[in-house]
Amino acid sequence: MEPVNLREYETAARDKLDPGLYGYFAGGAQDEVTLGANEAAFRRLMLVPRVLTGAGEPALDLTLLGRQASMPVLVAPSAFHRLAHPEGELATGRAAARAGVIMINAMLSTVAMEDVAATGATLWFQLYLQPDLGYTEQLVRRAEAAGCRALVITVDSPALRTGERARSALLDLPPGLSCPNLGGAGDIRQVTLSPEISWRHIDWLRGVTSLPIVLKGILHPADAALAVAHGADAVIVSNHGGRQLDTAPATIDRLPLIAEAVGGRVPVLLDGGVRRGTDVVKALALGATAVAIGRPVVWGLTVAGADGVAHVLALLRAELANALTLCGLGSAGQVPRDLVVSDGPAAAR
Ligand code: FNR
Repeated sequence: MEPVNLREYETAARDKLDPGLYGYFAGGAQDEVTLGANEAAFRRLMLVPRVLTGAGEPALDLTLLGRQASMPVLVAPSAFHRLAHPEGELATGRAAARAGVIMINAMLSTVAMEDVAATGATLWFQLYLQPDLGYTEQLVRRAEAAGCRALVITVDSPALRTGERARSALLDLPPGLSCPNLGGAGDIRQVTLSPEISWRHIDWLRGVTSLPIVLKGILHPADAALAVAHGADAVIVSNHGGRQLDTAPATIDRLPLIAEAVGGRVPVLLDGGVRRGTDVVKALALGATAVAIGRPVVWGLTVAGADGVAHVLALLRAELANALTLCGLGSAGQVPRDLVVSDGPAAAR
C-alpha cells in the first residue's frame, strides 16, 4: 500500500533497505539524543488556531534568495543518494523540479551537480570549505558554471562525528559509486573536515563569489549575528539531523533566539525533525522563512525513486495547506508568533 505520510515512508524504506544502509541514513551520533530531540521538540509545541478568518485557500509560494519556490520546504543536502536508489540525485532533482522546490545538492552527491542541474530543479550547492582554498575555489567556480543559485556552507562539521549506527557507510562506497562533485577520482576521502576553518574563510569566500552564501548548522544566536556580519545571505538552524554533536539542542527550540538575533536582515531556515505540515507551520510561526527535510527525501527515493520523492513533497504540501487552513491562515508567509504555545500548563493561557 502506498504510504500516506512521511513516517510511513520511513517504515516502507526500512523494509526495503539493507539494515546497515538503513542505519546509515536513519542514524545519529552516539546516543542519538539530538536525533530524538528534534522530533520530540516539535511534539511539545501546540498550535492555537484562529476562527472565522475567511482566509480562503492558503498561498504557499515564496521567493527565496531571488528564486521562486512553490512552498517553504526545501530538500536538505544529504550524501550518497545512489545508495538509496540507482538513479540517486537525478531522481531527487526530477522530483524537486516537478514540485517546484529548491534542492540543495550535497558535495557528497553520487551524481554530478551538472547532471542534477539538468533536471531543471533550482539547485543550491552544499560545500564543506576545504583548507586547500584553491580546491575550494575550483568547486565554487564549478557550482557557478553549473547554474547553482547559492552556496550552502555546512559549518557544523569541523570533524567527522563519531556515530555508532552510522559508522561504516561514510568511508566506503560500494564499487561503481563515486562522488563526481569532488572532481578527480571522486574519492570521498578527498573531503577534509577541518577544525581550522573559521570566519576568515567565510570572508575569503565572500570575496571570491557573488553567489548568495548560506551558512548551515547555526545553533547559537551570537553565531547567527556573526553570520550576518560576515555577509551571509541566509542561515540554516540545523544540528545536521542529530548526526554531528550529540546532545546539541533541538533546532525548533533554538529558532526563536536565532530569529531574534537575525532580526529579519536575512532569511532564517531550519531543518531537523520536520515530518508534518504542522511542523512547518510551527517553524514559520517561530521565525523561519522556510524549512528543509533530509531523511524523508531519502525514504521517498528508496521506496519509489523520483515518484517517491515527489509524493513525499506532495504529502507535506497538502498537510501544510491543510494545517494553515485549520489555523485560519491565508498565507505561509504570514504566520503569527502567537499561533504556537508550549505543551503543558502554559498552553491553557
Ligand atoms: C545528512 N546531512 C548532511 N548535511 C550536509 O550539510 N552535508 C551532507 O553531506 C549531509 N549528509 C547527510 C546524509 C544523511 C543520510 C542525512 C540523514 C543527513 C544533514 C541534512 O542536510 C539535514 O541537516 C538533516 O537531515 C535534517 O534533519 P532530518 O530532516 O533528516 O530530520
